[in-house]
Amino acid sequence: MPVSLVILAAGQGTRMNSDLPKVLHRVAGAPLLHHAMQAGAALSPERVVVVAGHGAEAVSKAARAWDEACGIVVQAEQLGTGHAVAQAAPALAGVSGDCVVLYGDTPFIRPETLEAMLEARARHAVVVLGFEARDPGRYGRLIAQGEALERIVEFKDATEAQRAITLCNSGVICADTALLLDLVGTLGNDNAAGEYYLTDVVELARRRGLSAGVVTCDEAETLGVNTRAQLAEAEAAFQARARAEALDNGVTLTAPETVFFALDTVVGRDAIIGPNVVFGPGVTIESGAEIRAFCHLEGCHVSRGADVGPFARLRPGAELAEDVHVGNFVEIKNAILEEGVKVGHLSYLGDADVGEGTNIGAGTVTCNYDGVMKHRTRIGKRAFIGSDTMLVAPVTVGDGALTGSGSVITADVPAGAVALGRARQVVKPGLAQKLFETLRALKAAQNKD
Ligand code: UD1
Ligand code: CA
Repeated sequence: MPVSLVILAAGQGTRMNSDLPKVLHRVAGAPLLHHAMQAGAALSPERVVVVAGHGAEAVSKAARAWDEACGIVVQAEQLGTGHAVAQAAPALAGVSGDCVVLYGDTPFIRPETLEAMLEARARHAVVVLGFEARDPGRYGRLIAQGEALERIVEFKDATEAQRAITLCNSGVICADTALLLDLVGTLGNDNAAGEYYLTDVVELARRRGLSAGVVTCDEAETLGVNTRAQLAEAEAAFQARARAEALDNGVTLTAPETVFFALDTVVGRDAIIGPNVVFGPGVTIESGAEIRAFCHLEGCHVSRGADVGPFARLRPGAELAEDVHVGNFVEIKNAILEEGVKVGHLSYLGDADVGEGTNIGAGTVTCNYDGVMKHRTRIGKRAFIGSDTMLVAPVTVGDGALTGSGSVITADVPAGAVALGRARQVVKPGLAQKLFETLRALKAAQNKD
């Protein structure tokens, strides 16, 4: 059966104390919204609709960056979760099957939990995801007998006895799309908050003789982000899980608690990750590669057998083929390093292609930016770039060519050639001693004054 998703992301998130819409705050390098969209994507939804409101433009841009095809509807005024879902109606026109409602600020719902909800739909017209709360606080309370859900009472509207219930509403709800839209279309707002509560669809469905049910999950899955402290908590929870998963998948983490993963980091089996390594978005590390201590990587690919660091920075577009060696204090950006390339120390390679087996000497810089435009440096196979070579792009160094240390290379170097672009050395025998004597005399004269 087809499934659609509605992701509620219109709220301001006042308690974040931020100019940024809440769902754009990041955990593991990705906006909260992407976490929710990823959780929902596991159901292979036919349609995804994001309900934006505060910062709608920025929120839709982020939503589209994750899923180009997703629908965006704008809820101009936040009149409640039920009203928010009703706004999705036009975007869900003609869609059949079930609809799952998620919150954009609740990043950790597991795909297995959503699947359990879809399975429970065989028994109930409306399925709500609940959890046993250690501190039920202001969550909506589920009035249920076993799996059978009678209704949901919001904290504000609850009696003392109802507030004592610890089975709480996560906010995730699933029902047939047409039924859900029909129900949210008939909601009233006669309650303590004066809002159109999505939670009221349970009672409305039951009045029509339909059944509602509860599926439960661990409280950790329903962690919602309302404050910066909860954002930090969410980050810690994500990292703890990502580290445990990496270890389970056969990755060595020398000091797991110091490694930070992004939502989309992929690390192959038998890779070794040293202490204090940070992965930004878009990193793939193949099996058996090694990332040494204190490296920062984003938007890059490190192949089998390559080793990086300590203290290296790989920026977007860094592509390291098999057995490449990148050493300390090296920065690589938008550059392809073919098999076996060595960049051992203190170098910057930006907008470059480096052919297999080439050695890049210490202190080499591709001067890729002229203040206005970026230019590419092309270095062939098995070339030797002497230490402290400045390669002023656009420039090409041919296969097997060599540049002398300290050269500033401004013109193309043909294959097999040696290029020297530096001042010729001058040697003055005996001059050093004379120079020192003159200087010492000067100092002595100054000290007398
Ligand atoms: C809601 C539930 C409550 C549940 C809790 C779980 C209702 C009425 N209450 O309460 O039972 O225990 O979540 O966290 O549904 N949003 C919109 N438009 C709106 C209102 C909200 O998009 O008009 C979005 C918010 O941005 C947020 C989500 O919906 O992502 C939940 O809204 P929030 O106001 O936090 O709901 P709660 O009062 O916490
Ligand atoms: Ca909330």
